Amino acid sequence: MLEQLIPSRRQFDGADPIFTMNAAAQKAAAAGASVINATMGALLDDDGKFVVLDSVMALYGQLTPMEIAPYAPIAGDPRFLLALTQRHWPDLTSYGMGVATPGGTGALALSLKNLLEPGMTLLTAAPYWSPYATLAIENRVALDTVPYPQAGESLDLDAWRATAERILRAQGRLLLWLNDPCHNPTGRSLSTADRRALMAMLRELSAHGPVTLLLDFAYLDYARDPHTVTEALADYRALGEEGRVLVGACLSLSKAFTLYGARAGALVFPWCTERALFEALSTSCRGTYSNCARAPMSLLLRMQADAAAQAALAAEHAHWRTVLATRADALDAALRAEGLDGAAWDAGFFVTLPADDAPALAERLTREGVFVVPMHGGIRVGVCGVRAADAPRFAAALRASRAG
Ligand SMILES: Cc1ncc(COP(=O)(O)O)c(C=O)c1O
Repeated sequence: MLEQLIPSRRQFDGADPIFTMNAAAQKAAAAGASVINATMGALLDDDGKFVVLDSVMALYGQLTPMEIAPYAPIAGDPRFLLALTQRHWPDLTSYGMGVATPGGTGALALSLKNLLEPGMTLLTAAPYWSPYATLAIENRVALDTVPYPQAGESLDLDAWRATAERILRAQGRLLLWLNDPCHNPTGRSLSTADRRALMAMLRELSAHGPVTLLLDFAYLDYARDPHTVTEALADYRALGEEGRVLVGACLSLSKAFTLYGARAGALVFPWCTERALFEALSTSCRGTYSNCARAPMSLLLRMQADAAAQAALAAEHAHWRTVLATRADALDAALRAEGLDGAAWDAGFFVTLPADDAPALAERLTREGVFVVPMHGGIRVGVCGVRAADAPRFAAALRASRAG
């Protein structure tokens, strides 16, 4: 009876696979099994230890009571919002319209509340980070998808245009969540040509009604080639500056500073000047979580003012980028050595290996002590948590499970 009273329960068609598979891996490990847990979404070192960036924690330790304890402003400290925006676009002198949010997740949620009406449809690329579906359900919107390009293939622009246009015409507006560059779960980024073609398509569509492109940036510090990230950000900036498509960004310190539990982030529209958007977003802040944690805001401000700390942070990012690349390359080589398709990786914490029967395959892998996250069309492997030395065992288990 209570189930019927709870709207999200009526639509929820199963537990989050990330949570379920991670719990299964932990249980198997606790029972003494030798486990490869590829479900993790946080950086682990090669001993399986949770990574916390020293440069960040050194500053955290310096925070004074007044940098931690008082309420932050409802919409977030404007200096924090500017500093976080400038981590992405260093030349910007304003974050436009924006608010602090509990991580990027909070930013995604606020975008649904404010840019769509209940019953409308959100568009994103599949495969996607599975909480996107939860966020949609929680905010009473439907989620439609377009295919993220397969490795080595280009974006199916016709499919993207047809779906986007259908949604725009049906509901008079379009909200597209784009987790690019550094896409979770594929571990890839759109090519320059695909990104530009997509931007041109959105620009054209905006003639038919308001189009919002919301960039979900979670893993930008962990790209094989950081230059590709800078280039993507410059393109999105140019699109935002034109003013035809409303361009916003979900920003987060979770991965960037390994401050997952601090819940620091922001929803910003750096090229928007409409105060109404700010009023709406800050009303939502007040009406959901009131305000966000002050400590990580203070921390970012300290980081911004401390060149030595910034250099130390950059060195740590460079180190972990290299570790991720080494792990992804080891996995790629091990898969090929087993006669399987490799794993392409540009950025982020994951790779996705295509599979038609992902849940069944993931289930078979658990019998080999290997835990992955099944998704529509593939299995997600967290290179953030699987050391290079485990790649051969992983690949052998996958070959055996694919055959089985
Ligand atoms: C694609 C993507 N977007 C957003 C987030 C949000 O993370 P947070 O709310 O911790 O900033 C994550 C975290 O895993 C993610 O993978």
